[in-house]
Amino acid sequence: MRNRKINGFSKLSKEQKLEWLADNFFEENSDAINDLTRFWHKDKELQSVLDGFSENTLSNFIMPYGVAPNFVINGKTYAVPMVIEESSVVAAASSAAKFWQRRGGFKAEILSTKKLGQVHFSWKGNAAKLYSVFDELKYELKTQTAHLTLNMEKRGGGVSDIQLLDFTNQEPDYYQLLVGFETCDSMGANFINTVLEAYGQTLRHFVANHSTFVGSEKELEVIMAILSNYTPECLVRASAEGPVEDEEFVNKFYKAVRIAQIDPYRATTHNKGIMNGVDAVVLATANDFRAIESSCHAYAARDGQYRSLSNCTIEDGIFKFWLDLPLALGTVGGLTKLHPLAKRSLELLGNPSAEELMMIVASTGLAQNFAAIRSLITTGIQQGHMKMHLKNILIHMQANESEMKKAIQYFDDKVVSFSAVRDFLGMIRKKKASRPTKVV
Ligand code: MEV
Repeated sequence: MRNRKINGFSKLSKEQKLEWLADNFFEENSDAINDLTRFWHKDKELQSVLDGFSENTLSNFIMPYGVAPNFVINGKTYAVPMVIEESSVVAAASSAAKFWQRRGGFKAEILSTKKLGQVHFSWKGNAAKLYSVFDELKYELKTQTAHLTLNMEKRGGGVSDIQLLDFTNQEPDYYQLLVGFETCDSMGANFINTVLEAYGQTLRHFVANHSTFVGSEKELEVIMAILSNYTPECLVRASAEGPVEDEEFVNKFYKAVRIAQIDPYRATTHNKGIMNGVDAVVLATANDFRAIESSCHAYAARDGQYRSLSNCTIEDGIFKFWLDLPLALGTVGGLTKLHPLAKRSLELLGNPSAEELMMIVASTGLAQNFAAIRSLITTGIQQGHMKMHLKNILIHMQANESEMKKAIQYFDDKVVSFSAVRDFLGMIRKKKASRPTKVV
């Protein structure tokens, strides 16, 4: 009898967890335990570092780690590390990088680096009273958290500004402290959240002790204090431009970008292509890809409609293609140096600052978008995509080396599909089986 509920799962050893799951969830006689333990790292110390990144870890989920060379950004050449499981993304990035390398490469610039955090609170008291003491409150917030911000200030960062916002026209009693942060080379999530939680406490204490609010401390309720993953003021621009070489191509390219600016259905897919490149580098450097995803998609909808993140112009015979992305990235802190491969990724990139990494990531996103549009408006995406996917299908169908060779040759000028590959393998296997065995 299977029992799928459990108390104290986290207290079990890894082996006990696996056994319990095998008994209660996997099919009987399945190789689940083997499959999961097969990916345990032989280096026990490293395995315990990896286990420490999460909870209830059973194994390691392996993803391909690739590199797209020939990325010229602001005159410097990079080999960009990419962690992604989708066929043709790295190939597309590499081919776009090479295309632009011959035309001067990508240009990138940092437009701003501010990150934001919020203390959300209810205030049932008089709004004017709150505003009348806001300067005093700001002073208190800063002095009470000086011990938390000192190190960041020494590195050139810290809290840049604090605003008091009134949202009572949308929600009764709802106010907010909106706080700007500079976090230098760290993504800064822990720093920001620590400061914000301390701000919440200082706010409570301030209201409880200030003469203006005697007897009204109950009017205040701090709801929550947390950073915002929307970072429209932590912005990088990547661009590529050159003289129009093929008018028909650039006109079609321009139209493709316009379509993604107009239609949210197309914009979502168009931006997904950008994020193929962005996420792959973000993952390879152990940055928070969920934060980057949410920020970029929110930015794509900043005027109220979801639109393309990239733009394109053709003016005076010059084709210009660019995008702005709100990327809160770090090259110190978090897992960036703890994950051995993230550390190597950063080394591969020349140990960049957070700003340089923002430029690399944005350029990779732009390259990916360029490659996707180029395929879409010329050969179509499936030709390249399915050619790359052919190997996966062949592996899935347990093709041997000689079958693989034959299939790759056969599909060179044909459309690849799962059923076409199955039929082809069926045919060559049948032929082989019906061939008479040689009598010596
Ligand atoms: C596939 O992962 C990404 C594309 O669909 C992007 C696009 O359509 O622009 C090819």
